[in-house]
Amino acid sequence: MKGIILAGGAGSRLFPLTLVASKQLQPVYDKPMVYYPLTTLIENGVREFCLISTPHDLPRFHQLLGDGKQWGISIEYREQAKPAGIAQAFLIAESFVGNDSVTLVLGDNIFYGSDTFRSAFTGFTSGATIFGYHVNDPERYGVVEFDSEGRAISIEEKPKTAKSNYAVPGLYIYDNSVLEITRNLKPSPRGELEITDVNVEYMKRGALRVHRLSRGFAWLDAGTSSSLHDASSYVQTIEKRQGIKIGCPEEAAFRSGFLSQPQIETLIAKMPNCEYRDSLTRAVEEIVRHKS
Ligand code: DAU
Repeated sequence: MKGIILAGGAGSRLFPLTLVASKQLQPVYDKPMVYYPLTTLIENGVREFCLISTPHDLPRFHQLLGDGKQWGISIEYREQAKPAGIAQAFLIAESFVGNDSVTLVLGDNIFYGSDTFRSAFTGFTSGATIFGYHVNDPERYGVVEFDSEGRAISIEEKPKTAKSNYAVPGLYIYDNSVLEITRNLKPSPRGELEITDVNVEYMKRGALRVHRLSRGFAWLDAGTSSSLHDASSYVQTIEKRQGIKIGCPEEAAFRSGFLSQPQIETLIAKMPNCEYRDSLTRAVEEIVRHKS
């Protein structure tokens, strides 16, 4: 399965932070925001990536992540000239997706704490898989409504009055028909190719699965100054309490078998002396201990 990371957009809600570096390059506690969604996909076995951003920000993403070889993955880069909608990502990355299935993650979505994704990824065969997460303010998101049997019966983008409290997080898994669906999509009244319209089309075809994320699961979106601060505090709290790192691509690549032990040790040896290095060293030692 291919992976697209969408990391463009105007970043206007974080002005003036975004004058120099885009939203997804801002720190969430101790690492750049984009590390978190990238790590989530690596943890779930995705190895080939296409990162999409603005012409202005793309060189900086390249500087940060390179071609991915250092983590045993590959990363291609594509430009989105204007923020014309999340679903436009599939048109931009069409040749990258080829004949494969594809997962799309938004570069400002942070996930932590459950195996729900694992079963969704390993069990994926066809159609579309999205998720539902109980929130206090569903009107800010795509909202999914369920019938009494738990089947999704409607999905609406930022409705005035939400039909449920279940928001759709920015991580989506599609079979290859997403390309044909997106090609036939019309822009919404706000002039964007809406990801919600893609999901509605799959629902009409009877090919949409919605997994509800459990109560203990954390989904944070770091799109405003306040939610960015909350996300940083959350990551700091968990990391301090548990002595682990969230959103560490090196560790995820090692766990997923994309990096061998000698490879990750070489990578660590090149890092400056810092907390990130110490923590990664401890994590690798622990993984090796549990394996033997
Ligand atoms: O966070 C989940 C929500 O993301 C979903 O529940 C909604 O259904 C979905 O439409 C989206 O809503 P947002 O209001 O968060 O979308 P926003 O326009 O803020 O874009 C989300 C991210 O994607 C943001 O980091 C910028 C990036 N983006 C967005 C657009 C429209 C792009 O890179 N290019 C684009 O054209």
